[in-house]
Amino acid sequence: MSNQPIGVFDSGLGGLTAVKQLRAIMPHENIIYFGDTGRVPYGNRSVETIKRYAAQDARFLLSHNVKMVIAACGTVSSTATDLGDNLPVPYVNVIAPTAKAAVEATKNGKIGVIGTRATISTGAYKKEIEKIDSSVKVFQKDCPLFVPIVEEGFFGTDDPIAMLTAERYLKILKDQKVDTIILGCTHYPILKAVIGEYVGQDVRLIDSGKETALYASSVLAEKSLLNSSQTEGQCEFFVSDRTEGFSQIASIFLRSNIGDNVSRVDIHNF
Ligand code: DGL
Repeated sequence: MSNQPIGVFDSGLGGLTAVKQLRAIMPHENIIYFGDTGRVPYGNRSVETIKRYAAQDARFLLSHNVKMVIAACGTVSSTATDLGDNLPVPYVNVIAPTAKAAVEATKNGKIGVIGTRATISTGAYKKEIEKIDSSVKVFQKDCPLFVPIVEEGFFGTDDPIAMLTAERYLKILKDQKVDTIILGCTHYPILKAVIGEYVGQDVRLIDSGKETALYASSVLAEKSLLNSSQTEGQCEFFVSDRTEGFSQIASIFLRSNIGDNVSRVDIHNF
């Protein structure tokens, strides 16, 4: 049993969608969150840059004595695939648990994967799905505009920009009649209603944050690392750029108000 915090990082604040799920599934765990707001977005960057940033992010979390590192970021998870190799604590990323949930969910064997340009270009989800079940057909689509759309707050089904963008990006998946779509980016769960409205309510939308939180909890249980305390876990938030306005953007992803409990860190020191 361990009351050390779980470390979670993302390129920015989108990874708070995973924190929301972690808190729901493991309410007694303490969490340290790092959002690399000074260098976001990662999704259009090169493999070398994403790997270097991810290694620094993980080192920052380790300096806080975390018992596990979780990459909530789809871009990091698909690109910095060797990040966990040299970490002294268990490392969890979004790819394997989310791919497994999608394979379990599909009935017609057609899965769509959406993510940033970097995530889709690695083919990481496709490879993982085909490893689990080679008969499944995978259709991928990068949806770069979804990130700024969410950050601008355009995520209602009554928002024409959100709905038109969904149609532009997702028509190809709808035409292929996928019955399951992996929301392979931190921001996309916020667009669940928009995406569901366009592709139809019968299509299952797999939230990478939720599946990863469930998997992380099983890894901690297996390694006897869950917190035995029955008090509510504490969250500490760190960012690499200005802290002003943090609570406003954070509340989009967390769906709750967390106040201004945030500190700035110079990530170049890690
Ligand atoms: N967090 C990123 C992801 O999940 C999206 C934002 C970015 O491009 O950095 O892929």
